[in-house]
Amino acid sequence: MAVFLSSEKISEVAELLAKDELVAFPTETVYGLGGNAYSDNAVAKIFACKHRSEFNPLSVCYSSFEKASADVIITKYASIIAEKFLPGSITLLLKRKKNSRLSMLCSAGLDTIGIRIPSNEIALSILSKLAFPLAAPSANSSGQLSHTTAKEVAEDLKNITILDGGKCNIGIESTIIDCSGEKLVITRQGVISTEEIIEKCGINRELILFSEKPKKFSFTKKILLNTQSSEIVGKNDALLAFGPSLSVNCKYVLNLSPSKNLNEATANFFSMLKTLENSDVEKICVMPIPNISLGQAINKRLKSLL
Ligand code: TXA
Ligand code: MG
Repeated sequence: MAVFLSSEKISEVAELLAKDELVAFPTETVYGLGGNAYSDNAVAKIFACKHRSEFNPLSVCYSSFEKASADVIITKYASIIAEKFLPGSITLLLKRKKNSRLSMLCSAGLDTIGIRIPSNEIALSILSKLAFPLAAPSANSSGQLSHTTAKEVAEDLKNITILDGGKCNIGIESTIIDCSGEKLVITRQGVISTEEIIEKCGINRELILFSEKPKKFSFTKKILLNTQSSEIVGKNDALLAFGPSLSVNCKYVLNLSPSKNLNEATANFFSMLKTLENSDVEKICVMPIPNISLGQAINKRLKSLL
């Protein structure tokens, strides 16, 4: 059963979020499903709650554009757009700073982060009470449309806490612009039109491109899936274990979840992949991961790296 909280319960919501719990909350566009963006554990819960069978990056909500500059590299056009439109219904894609504390799972291993500063007063008051930003995709299960009322969210996502702030007044998702490069790339046409952006920001039309193709996660190491015997793990390899580890003689053994917990494995997945990508191992041998719930997303991503 869903738990509804009324809009004065901001402190209660902040306490839950600080304990890595998830809370659905209203934004001016659609309801978001929020969790601590600095916590792999909270972000893994978001993927589980939405029943996502693959890892898409999640946008991150901040109380102000200045706050976001702790985690991403601000570009000239990002500043211009932010000045004209934020807080408001635009998500800016920007490069992650090296020292950012954002969960790797949040950006699904990509080097850009989707930054959003919603204009909804309730959303802003939650965000300004927190010591961390919120990973917050739309609060719907995978394959469903976004929701604009707390009731719709409750019907779709079970056992969830929802801050009921009434109906979202826009009802269409934010426009997404990749501002991380030389050109601006609109990757989702949303509530704010390209024309409006060009006009208000005085941006040359030729600078704007359109693309819905997601960027590929770059990965160069060789991967061997379904490793069930220690004999195939070489001494210059890494073992990415799941459950009780094979006993091996190799460079690294990292364990996604010794207790076979798929939420824990998901929380560790991208940061462990990054660690191994940046190491000098020859190949990464991955132990079998059950192809159920979040295991499906992990297996799908691993197969895409072969
Ligand atoms: O209006 C909105 O943007 C709503 C409210 C809740 O803020 N949020 C929303 O989130 O629509 P979501 O997760 O349903 O859609 C965000 C889109 C996804 O398609 C995701 O792929 C893209 O943003 N996105 C997020 N981070 C990205 C990144 N680092 N690189 C590329 N695309 C990204
Ligand atoms: Mg969505």
